[in-house]
Amino acid sequence: MSKSAHRRIAPSRDLLDPIEYASRDEIAALQTSRMKWSLAHAYANVEHYRKKCQDKGVHPDDFKELKDLAKFPFTVKSDLRDTYPFGMFAVPMDDVVRVHASSGTTGKPTVVGYTKNDIDMWAGVMARSIRAAGGRRADKCHVSYGYGLFTGGLGAHYGAETLGCTVIPMSGGQTEKQIQLIMDFKPEIIMVTPSYMLAIADEMDRQGIDTRTCPLQIGVFGAEPWTEAMREEIETRMGIQAVDIYGLSEVIGPGVACECVETKDGLHLWEDHFYPEIIDPQTGEVLPDGSLGELVFTSLSKEALPIIRYRTRDLTMLLPGTARSMRRMGKITGRSDDMLIIRGVNVFPTQIEELILKDFRLAPHYQLEVTREGHLDSVTVNVEVRADQPFDDSALAAAAHDLQHHIKSYIGISTKVNVLVPNSIERSLGKAKRVVDKRPKA
Ligand code: DLL
Repeated sequence: MSKSAHRRIAPSRDLLDPIEYASRDEIAALQTSRMKWSLAHAYANVEHYRKKCQDKGVHPDDFKELKDLAKFPFTVKSDLRDTYPFGMFAVPMDDVVRVHASSGTTGKPTVVGYTKNDIDMWAGVMARSIRAAGGRRADKCHVSYGYGLFTGGLGAHYGAETLGCTVIPMSGGQTEKQIQLIMDFKPEIIMVTPSYMLAIADEMDRQGIDTRTCPLQIGVFGAEPWTEAMREEIETRMGIQAVDIYGLSEVIGPGVACECVETKDGLHLWEDHFYPEIIDPQTGEVLPDGSLGELVFTSLSKEALPIIRYRTRDLTMLLPGTARSMRRMGKITGRSDDMLIIRGVNVFPTQIEELILKDFRLAPHYQLEVTREGHLDSVTVNVEVRADQPFDDSALAAAAHDLQHHIKSYIGISTKVNVLVPNSIERSLGKAKRVVDKRPKA
């Protein structure tokens, strides 16, 4: 038995929150009553929502059952930017105990706020997520998500403490120090982006540490898209269970949804606090469960920043519950922002990741460069050869030729592929930058 195999045993019910095994009717009843509160709270206390509802001719009293939510207006990132910094807050600043903010590549950051109750709810759903991932009270939890305005570090930290873990608040960066603490403190759990986990594993290799025998048993990985192929890569390399966690700051932070280690079949959405919908990104129409589309969330219990029908731009589908009664979402295929349209073909970086990981010669470190030649967009794939493979010019050219051929035959686009020597591609300390857009700005 591998060092982490016992983690896949399902938890007994007395460890779970009762809502995790409630019936669908009980869940819907709770959602309906909380939704009424949340819509009324947003309408009464946030001018921006009140105005958007009035423009659409809808009032919180029009909400009687869950399907009525479709009548309400969407919220998008620019609503938060337009009301920067605190215009969407629904409580007096005296009651806001924390803010976080997303950096954003241009312009102003998006600011989110929390009351004490919001922080407690967040810690509760994060504790539930870590438990779903196989974590238990008294485990040691090494947090390598960044601490600061990003929600990853502090979100993971409060959740792990609430579960009763011993938290090691390492934050991102200082890779050599990360390894020293992992080897000396012997944490069972690591919480980190999958791309930074790989950077840590590479550094372990460099130091001659056998990654499979390191103390870690569970990785709770999120904040960026990653594929099943990447899961297999990390699990085999580290001898751990690799579990997917999802969230976004506008909705709360990490802990909106998480996989259960015993099934690893998609992420259970904590629907008692965040109501999900899938919409057609073009028309805004609500799609039935099982359809691929854009994920939209309405918060059900948040006080400082109630969020109504927030368009995440993340593409996935809703699926019935398995290990828990709450519904699952499929792994995120990608963000509509990251979707490339190359000569009419829609491409996500994750599709290219899958093909890279199928080739034993290639390392899972890659970046896509998009340029414009005349009126057409073109993609260059930069990827590294694995450190244990030959890297003379002809070996690199042969691997490049093969990947180019696979991308053409599986995805249908022509690309330029550069297979580079190890350590050519910049490592991320948090979210990996998969697409470098070199097209002239419109
Ligand atoms: O990334 C929160 C987080 C921290 C989640 C740590 C998980 C772990 P933001 O910085 O607001 O919040 O970015 C949110 O990241 O809309 C997705 O596009 C992406 N994302 C987050 N988790 C996943 C995941 C945090 N598991 C944005 N798979 C989201 C794919 C993810 N994409």
